[in-house]
Amino acid sequence: MKSSLIRQRTSLQDSILEELNKQMAIEAHSCAAYLSMSAWCHVQGLVGCADYFKKQSGEEREHQLRIFDYVTSMGALAVSPEVRGVEANFEGLRNIFELALDMEIAITERFNFLTELCHKNKDYQTAKFLQWYLDEQMEEEENARRCLELFDLITPANDGLYQIDKAVAKLNAE
Ligand SMILES: [Fe+2]
Ligand SMILES: [Fe+2]
Repeated sequence: MKSSLIRQRTSLQDSILEELNKQMAIEAHSCAAYLSMSAWCHVQGLVGCADYFKKQSGEEREHQLRIFDYVTSMGALAVSPEVRGVEANFEGLRNIFELALDMEIAITERFNFLTELCHKNKDYQTAKFLQWYLDEQMEEEENARRCLELFDLITPANDGLYQIDKAVAKLNAE
């Protein structure tokens, strides 16, 4: 479909639509990255962490679909993303927790950028839609930070990893 045809059906501005589609790709990448972390944990026997990351992966998929629904309900064309560059090998559990926190912080920055873009372009409706993500990111960062804290609090000597695994599994229940 020609972009001029799509344009007639939506009040979404091109620059914002482009960034929303880009964000869908980022959420899809997060979904795949967390699933890869879950797989790695499974192989290490860290089933609590594996379940935790699998759940995170599912949430990222929901984040992606929430944008998909918004874009389609605005009458615009959502682009189903291709996912590339998903890491399968990790140095260790702490490394995974660090990567997860870095990923969440980068995504928070993306939503700050998107919100600012909406304000600049006077698209207050999309800015309001993005507010949910800003709230969600606070929670996402908090959990990711807590995982790192737990790792450092529970020294990974002897049965340390086992304790971390159990502690992280509880995060899903909270
Ligand atoms: Fe997300
Ligand atoms: Fe996330």
